Amino acid sequence: MVEPELRARVGGMHAWPAEMAGYAFGWWERGGAPRTGSSGKGVRQALAVLCAEAAGAPVRTAVAGAVAVELIHTFSLLHDDIMDGDETRRQRPAAWKAYGTGPAVLAGDALFALAFEVLAGAPGPHGGAAVRRLSRDLADLVGGQAEDLLFEERPWTGPGAVPVDAYLRMAEHKTGALLGCAAALGALLAGAPAATVDALSTAGRELGVAFQAVDDVLGLWGDPATTGKPVHGDLRRRKKTLPVLAALAAGVPASGRLAALLAAPGPLDEAGLRRAAGLVEEAGGREAALAEARRRLDRARGCLLGVPLAPGPAGELLGLLPYVVGRAV
Ligand code: IPE
Ligand code: IPE
Ligand code: MG
Ligand code: MG
Repeated sequence: MVEPELRARVGGMHAWPAEMAGYAFGWWERGGAPRTGSSGKGVRQALAVLCAEAAGAPVRTAVAGAVAVELIHTFSLLHDDIMDGDETRRQRPAAWKAYGTGPAVLAGDALFALAFEVLAGAPGPHGGAAVRRLSRDLADLVGGQAEDLLFEERPWTGPGAVPVDAYLRMAEHKTGALLGCAAALGALLAGAPAATVDALSTAGRELGVAFQAVDDVLGLWGDPATTGKPVHGDLRRRKKTLPVLAALAAGVPASGRLAALLAAPGPLDEAGLRRAAGLVEEAGGREAALAEARRRLDRARGCLLGVPLAPGPAGELLGLLPYVVGRAV
C-alpha cells in the first residue's frame, strides 16, 4: 500500500536527490539501475497503517501518514550515518559513502521537506494537527539525537557517567518519538478521540524504546550480514548503549573488568571490542537490555488494550509486537 505512493512522491523530487533517496530505499543502484532486494524493515510504515486502521482511518489517510513517517525515518538515517560515521546501512555502503557527505545531507533535506508536504496534503480537515504533531515529535527526535551525540563525550564511570534512566529518556526521544508519531498520525488525521491518539502515541513511544534496546543489542552481538549494519561501531565511538550501561551498573566482578577495559587509553582493537562485548554479557548487560525491551513491550500492549480499537487491525498490531524484541535484523 505504501511503497507505490512513496515511489511516486520521490519521483517528483529533483532527479539527483531522488536518485540518492531511491538508493537509500533500496530501489536502485548508484547511477539508477533498478535493483531487487530489501530496503529496510518498514516497521514504522506498518505501525502507521495498522494503528490508523485500528483507529478507523480510511486507507488513503493511513497511507499518507505512513508515507510521511517513512520519509522522515529515511531522512533521519541518511543524516545519522554521517553523524555516527557508519559506513554501511541496509547491506550496502551508506548514502554518504556512495555519494559524498554533502549530497547525502541534501537528499535527507529533500525527504524531510517532502514528508511535510505529504502530510499537509493528507485528506480531511486534520492535516494541520498532523503537521504540528510531526513537528513536535521531530523536535523530540532531534533532542534525543543531541543527547546520543553528547553522551559519546561522557565517561563510562564516575560522577559524569550516564545513568540508565538518562539513557532511557534519550532513547524515548531519539527512537520512541518517531514510532509514537507513526502510531498516532492516522488516528489524528481521522479525527479520533484524544484519548485514542494519546494511547497510540504512548504505545509507539514504549515500542520505540524496546526497539532501540534491541538495536543496541544487535550493535554488539548482531551479524552484519543480517543486520546490514556494522557491529561494535557504537562501542568504538564510545556511544552509551543500554547493554553496556546496564553491565557497568550491575556491580558484579565483570562490571569492574569492563570499566577497566573501557578506561584504557586509545581506541579498542578488534580483540578488545570482542572482549568488551563478552564482559558486557557476563555482567548481565545483554539480558538487562532485553528485559527492558520486554517491559516496554508490555507497557505498549497495555496502552493498546486500554482504548477501543477495531479488533482486526488491533489484533495484527498486537501480533507484530513480539517481533520487535525477537528480531535479528
Ligand atoms: C534504525 O531503524 C534506526 C533506529 C532507530 C534503531 P530500523 O532498524 O527500523 O531501520 P530500517 O528501516 O529497518 O533499515
Ligand atoms: C538512529 O539511532 C536514530 C535516528 C536516526 C534518529 P542509531 O544511530 O542508534 O541507529 P542505527 O544503529 O545507526 O540504525
Ligand atoms: Mg546510527
Ligand atoms: Mg545514531
